[in-house]
Amino acid sequence: MEQKLKAILSEAEQALSRTDNLDQLNEIRVRFLGKKGLLTSVLRGMGSLAPEERPRVGQLANDVRARIESVLEERMATIKEQVKKEKLAAERIDVTLPGTPFPAGRRHPLSIVEEEIEDIFLGMGYSIEEGPEIELDFYNFEALNLPKDHPARDMQDSFFIGPEVLLRTHTSPVQVRTMERTAPVLPVRIIAPGKVYRRDDDATHSPMFHQVEGLAIDRRVTFGDLKGTLQVFAEKMFGPQTRTRFRPSYFPFTEPSAEVDISCGMCGGKGCRVCSDTGWLEILGCGMVHPRVLEVSGYNPEEVTGFAFGMGVERIAMLKYNIDDMRLLFDNDLRFLAQF
Ligand code: PHE
Repeated sequence: MEQKLKAILSEAEQALSRTDNLDQLNEIRVRFLGKKGLLTSVLRGMGSLAPEERPRVGQLANDVRARIESVLEERMATIKEQVKKEKLAAERIDVTLPGTPFPAGRRHPLSIVEEEIEDIFLGMGYSIEEGPEIELDFYNFEALNLPKDHPARDMQDSFFIGPEVLLRTHTSPVQVRTMERTAPVLPVRIIAPGKVYRRDDDATHSPMFHQVEGLAIDRRVTFGDLKGTLQVFAEKMFGPQTRTRFRPSYFPFTEPSAEVDISCGMCGGKGCRVCSDTGWLEILGCGMVHPRVLEVSGYNPEEVTGFAFGMGVERIAMLKYNIDDMRLLFDNDLRFLAQF
């Protein structure tokens, strides 16, 4: 019996030294130590031993079991460690590899141009104002000298939200909102960039577009100041060779009113396809603030005067970058946008 026990031990040790995975290890445990295992079946035979032999053989059997168990534990720990190492080796990442390239975004041409316009006027002492895109009829029309039945409302057909509420058709309502707040403090020098909406949609008109409004109010502001200001703006925006031309026009909220053209940058004013052979390109509307507008806004037209202008950001971007279809600015095609 002692022989058998020793044989079992050495067999178990050999089997264990050859295992290299946990499943095998478990099989070995069952084979030697399990209820129907080899060691158990040897112990069952204890009954046939002489009583005085039993303690010694029993002791030996316990030693063998303990020994097998401890070798098994050891082996299990080694195998587990090994498995862990293999996993780590397989998962190792090389932190020096180049990363997945992530395309950097850039500003939209309209944002670039809008910010450039802002910079030019900030440099001339203007500050930036904003107004709501959902506007009251009062600010968009009424206070700007465009009563309900005024024919000039047709030029700015709009999107109405309620009888007195609409999407603003221009940034001019910010003139009134600003003066209402600042009156009677002088001077007022603001620009108001933002989105405006009109019922228009073709290659040169979008139902939503951007304007930058300008307003300057003080004692003795003249049309000459307006001309000088816009000439400086045109030169900074389109280059020092740029000339401006003021054509008489009509807006109910300015008197006199003008439309301003700049000399065509493509042909230098000689006439080409871009300027329809006129040598000039229209960029904005302007004029001297109408006395009635000053009055509803809280300024005394007997004491102060001022000028205002409104320019289309899309138009300026199209001229500056030579873009022939306004819709390109809203298509979000990266092949187009990546060029700015
Ligand atoms: N608000 C006018 C428009 O959108 C432009 C303008 C602004 C004209 C200020 C005169 C003074 O057409």
